[in-house]
Amino acid sequence: MSLPARLRYLLIGTVALTLLLGARLSLHNAPATPAAFSSTSVAPAAELETAPAPETAPAPEKAPPAAPRILLVSAFFPLPTSKHSPAEYDAWLAHFLGEITTDIYFYTPPARGPAVRALRGARPLALNTSFASPFDVPPLHGREAQYAAMHAKDREAFRHTPALYAVWNAKPWLLTAALDAARAEGREYDFAFWCDAGSFREGHAYRAWPDPLRVLEVFGPGVANEKIFIPLAGLPPRSARTWTPAAGPLDAEVSEGSFFGGPPRAAAAFAADFYAFHDAHAARGAFVGKDQTLFNALLLLRPARFRTVRVAGPLAWPLDVGALGACGAEWFYYQFLLAREEEREAMRTLWGADAASAARLWDGSAWWRERQRCRVAPVVGVDTLLTSVFGPGWTPPAPLES
Ligand SMILES: *[C@@H]1O[C@H](CO)[C@@H](O)[C@H](O)[C@H]1NC(C)=O
Repeated sequence: MSLPARLRYLLIGTVALTLLLGARLSLHNAPATPAAFSSTSVAPAAELETAPAPETAPAPEKAPPAAPRILLVSAFFPLPTSKHSPAEYDAWLAHFLGEITTDIYFYTPPARGPAVRALRGARPLALNTSFASPFDVPPLHGREAQYAAMHAKDREAFRHTPALYAVWNAKPWLLTAALDAARAEGREYDFAFWCDAGSFREGHAYRAWPDPLRVLEVFGPGVANEKIFIPLAGLPPRSARTWTPAAGPLDAEVSEGSFFGGPPRAAAAFAADFYAFHDAHAARGAFVGKDQTLFNALLLLRPARFRTVRVAGPLAWPLDVGALGACGAEWFYYQFLLAREEEREAMRTLWGADAASAARLWDGSAWWRERQRCRVAPVVGVDTLLTSVFGPGWTPPAPLES
């Protein structure tokens, strides 16, 4: 890399870091009362607030006119036996609600509403406090006893609870319900994504995220309407080649549940498939508590409907920080993938500093540092990916007879 280019990266990184620190400081200095942030008092109504930003908050970025309209949908239902502490969650929520400027539709119990509004500040928020518990969400309604009985069948029962299953399995429904609610109030979106409220765990440079133009690229032209984007943590085992829906959810580390979505029509079709599969297997007493294992089943049933990204690099060397370079936590790689180039560059700078201090021996090597710059992985069709795992003769199994 030439010296001017390197200076440019350094500058971008410095600017991003300054913005990041500024944003975090302003959050920490923020008055604790929600009233100082929100133009309305706390109400269960779901209206989109577009009050002018106070001076301490970063101004929301305007997307170019041709950009698709994007909605992020999320929820926070505090569970008494969570594997993470309330303080940890508050920090993660601040990195999401306090920093991402994209429209957010957020579900939380009434008692948490004020905290969510305070963290969100003047950024656009539709807050829905209609559900006090995940079991109040329609597809989970009345399933407390069924889910409690199912808990005994979970091989990871020691760290899961029935209420946690309900939170996971509510996601596809909440995603489409948010789109419906927004539409009923005159707000149309071209894409909607479920985004776990606790998925921004560290300081980051993402703001107008996911970048609308990147989203267009990821979905590609033409058939975008039918597709759901869902990141994969791994590939199904070869033994899944003979999987059929009668076997139930596929218990393997394949899909991630933290982030998924697409155009409204695809999101609705995905939710319909998800609950058809869930209800059928719940009725026969199978374990359906883990959304990822249900997503896995849908990936095998309808691979042509999904697009994905995998954090894998056939060219990774043993001394490399990660398969695609220094990209932070691989589980959240999609955050980088879906960001605009300026934000990706700022993240590379952050991770580059981490990588350099983690490998002192190589710190002085410009070649090595250059090699660790986080790379952009290709987005692929799940049908193509599964054919590469199972062999060219593989075809998706027939859906479950009802
Ligand atoms: C919250 O969401 C539910 C489900 O979509 C909906 O029925 C309800 O009207 C929403 N509440 C508000 C206040 O918008």
